Amino acid sequence: MCGIFCYIGMQDAVALVMDGLKKLEYRGYDSAGIAINNNGILIHKRQGKLEALSSSVPPAFRGSKVAIGHTRWATHGSPNIVNAHPHVSADGKIAMVHNGIIENYETFRSSFGETDIQCEGETDSEVLVKYIALQYQEPFQNLEEVVAKVLSEVQGSYSLVIMEESKPHKIIAARRGSPLVVGRSDDGYYLASDILPILPHTRKVVYLEDGEIVVIENNQLQIFDFSYQQKQAEFQYLNIDLHSADKTGYKHYMLKEIHEQPKALRRGHGQQMSNDNLLPELQPFMETISKAGRIIILGCGTSWHAGLVAEYVIEKLCRVPVEVEYASEFRYRDPVIYADDVIVALSQSGETADTLVALEEAKKHGALLYGVVNVPTSSIARLVDVYSNIFAGPEISVASTKAFICQLNALYLFAIKLGKYNGNLSPDYSLSVLKELRQVPDILKNYLSYIVYRIKNIAMIYSHVNHTLFLGRGLQFPIALEGALKLKEVSYIHAEGYPAAEMKHGPIALIEKGWPVIIIALKSDPHYKKVLSNIEEIKARGGSVIGIISEGDESIKDNVENWIEIPRISFLLSPMFTVIPMQLLAYYIGLHKGCDIDKPRNLAKSVTVE
Ligand code: G6P
Repeated sequence: MCGIFCYIGMQDAVALVMDGLKKLEYRGYDSAGIAINNNGILIHKRQGKLEALSSSVPPAFRGSKVAIGHTRWATHGSPNIVNAHPHVSADGKIAMVHNGIIENYETFRSSFGETDIQCEGETDSEVLVKYIALQYQEPFQNLEEVVAKVLSEVQGSYSLVIMEESKPHKIIAARRGSPLVVGRSDDGYYLASDILPILPHTRKVVYLEDGEIVVIENNQLQIFDFSYQQKQAEFQYLNIDLHSADKTGYKHYMLKEIHEQPKALRRGHGQQMSNDNLLPELQPFMETISKAGRIIILGCGTSWHAGLVAEYVIEKLCRVPVEVEYASEFRYRDPVIYADDVIVALSQSGETADTLVALEEAKKHGALLYGVVNVPTSSIARLVDVYSNIFAGPEISVASTKAFICQLNALYLFAIKLGKYNGNLSPDYSLSVLKELRQVPDILKNYLSYIVYRIKNIAMIYSHVNHTLFLGRGLQFPIALEGALKLKEVSYIHAEGYPAAEMKHGPIALIEKGWPVIIIALKSDPHYKKVLSNIEEIKARGGSVIGIISEGDESIKDNVENWIEIPRISFLLSPMFTVIPMQLLAYYIGLHKGCDIDKPRNLAKSVTVE
């Protein structure tokens, strides 16, 4: 949700910033901009993707040793060039990039009444930088003091970076609620919304905490709080792998990430299942977790769907009540939270604002907070009492795929660990589930090698449709939701996910001749026969059924128009396979329609605003 990348040092700042922004484009891509300070502040902005900006940088920008850059996902104001960042003060002498929302910006704007300050665009960010500049007068000695004072009045969440024309060797940055990382290398300092673009330059970083301001001037770094009290800067050395973040020959990140799933799972298994000490980081908390009256799972989007699968699995294996909530709904309905609840936050990025604020709310009630994240340095990982890394590696495609399957893997392990601990799971059964889980990467790799061709063909047949319905029962219901979400995200086809049995309570009214219904009908499903009846109900109304079926189930093939098999696997683990056709169907339908698969319109990968 908006990406910031800035550099100050000895190298060509513009080239570095363009490169850094490229790696942050997943956070927003409706417009982009850059500012330099080379004997004066110069701003260059473009509407649309970063390419439009990087291919049009004026020659005057070359040679600057400081630059602040931004790639935008619009919150306030439409995605046009005026609203693109950086924004500047009325005299053009202070420039700022901002990620987040300034909720009380109207209050600041109202103070412009007596002045001749005019805002050109509609953004809260422009108001803020103009307000900061307005406050920059006696008795303040320097800009960082003003920034501290103003930010202590700001409501909302943000990370921001500011440059001042009269101080070409200085950058000021601050955060509250939105991530900002500062990296230090031999040649200078890098500031970014996420660690990924910093890693090629340095592993020495400091993660700004909420309420901190960093001032980098003449190659020195200082940190202050919003009361302008200096703090100790604590750099850490990140010993993390730089997993491949390029497309390695695939046409899109989404396709690459779908095919990476076996490898990602294997990597997770190596870390999470050593000597059968599952998720070892949880060991010190098991007594508390096993006494939990309730487990509440929070997440958004695909992560919420992983939570719904986990609800079935944990209740089955551990017999503990589980509730799954949209983080955004949970936070604002004054939820009842007990100190003996365990809150599980699912988030690929670990930065989703809705999930973060929901966790902050839960923290106030004393519940144990457990994060399941893909980014161990993320805000959620740092907020919770304990977290597990899902080891998916960087996920760049906006539509999440490999993170989902890796979340499921971690959640299965959590359920097995808890089930064993609280005595609900026999050693034999848990061993058999673990054994099968270990086989998943190999079975999945093989599956991907032969199923793509079939799905491509089916995708061709259905790429012209305008509406679809995805159905699944029990464990497959969240997969139906995920299938519908993937299709909406990457092909813009209207899709609804429903529990198969619920179809008769409404959605069946939609079905008419040729209406496509994707239904998961596995022979291993204890309610398989009921799903067969649902198929009959759809056919009776002329619907066109695509069955996601069990390998070797010959009889069902005559009952559906098209089918996609999944390999033989227990029903418990089947979501790790039924989701694959969903991902591939969405991908190939989107491809066939010529959609921008990795950067679907209006979406962003990391949603750091509420
Ligand atoms: C955005 C992304 C989704 C993702 C959701 C939750 O909406 O486009 O793909 O599932 O955020 O993200 P998280 O990082 O918290 O899992």
